[in-house]
Amino acid sequence: MNRNLVLEFWNLQVRYLVDMYIFKNVAEIQQYLNECRSKNAAIGFTPTMGALHEGHLSLVRRAVTDNEISVCSIFVNPTQFDDKADLDRYPRTMERDLEMLKSAGNHVVFAPTADEVYPKNLDTSHGVDFGAMADHMEGAHRPGHFDGMAQVVKRLVDIVESDYIYMGQKDYQQQALVKYMFKQLNYKTQVVTCPIVREADGLAMSSRNRHLNTDERESAGHINKVLRRLKEVAEILPLSIARNQALEQIRHISGADSDYLEIVDAVTLERLDNFEDAKSVVACTTVRIGKVRLLDNMILR
Ligand code: PAJ
Repeated sequence: MNRNLVLEFWNLQVRYLVDMYIFKNVAEIQQYLNECRSKNAAIGFTPTMGALHEGHLSLVRRAVTDNEISVCSIFVNPTQFDDKADLDRYPRTMERDLEMLKSAGNHVVFAPTADEVYPKNLDTSHGVDFGAMADHMEGAHRPGHFDGMAQVVKRLVDIVESDYIYMGQKDYQQQALVKYMFKQLNYKTQVVTCPIVREADGLAMSSRNRHLNTDERESAGHINKVLRRLKEVAEILPLSIARNQALEQIRHISGADSDYLEIVDAVTLERLDNFEDAKSVVACTTVRIGKVRLLDNMILR
């Protein structure tokens, strides 16, 4: 049978006959996914921390389209928060998230407790040396964050054993590190990086945007405009000048300051002095407005 027809059949069957499965327990989701695998169903996995918005849903929709089974996890991972207050403040909107996932056609939700993810008798460390890749940009500003992120992504993929994992370009360094980790670990799971979903004025969607007041929200819309201008000049000006110009422009946005703006090799994340030194190039920035840190990036080539 034509593969698209098979996919459509699976989607219909799962959506209308069994609705959306919600698992909290590792053994139960593994048993269910083993059954799916025995029927040769491809499994696509989208890890999230909940408080879902259209950015997350774009990943889930892609997983639904590409696979017989789409699994989405909702788990606010304590090990990737360097700041306890930030963890406590993280929005938790489970009921709404489940409704959104259902309407996106998602099949399976994994919403475990911390004890399920990190049982006492299991070594869940990721064991990968990221070297300089994890030391700069977000890594320099959030000590321990990427180790916690890598730990949970490895653990979740060990549970779900998906064919594909869907991640957002929004967190550029994160998805690059996951690609590197899976390569080092020889995992078969392929990382699919999905484009950034933005608000009408260009602000990248984020669960943190809700913490911006009206003036801050207006300022936040300018971050992406600076990156778009940077893309236009990056091929003409020396990269260091283009970068400094963009940093200046960000600092001119009312109430904004930048933790960093780096132009890096899109795969190795090495800082670049020349456009020609890499096949693909990305500019990554984090801008602070009030108490909110906003991440954005732009593929320059
Ligand atoms: P979270 O912030 O919930 O994001 C889950 C996924 O959604 C990530 O891959 C992120 O890049 C993607 N995403 C967020 N905003 C997006 C947007 N505007 N457009 C496209 N994709 C977007 O990132 C995490 O959770 C965690 O670190 C996690 C990977 C789940 C590990 O705990």
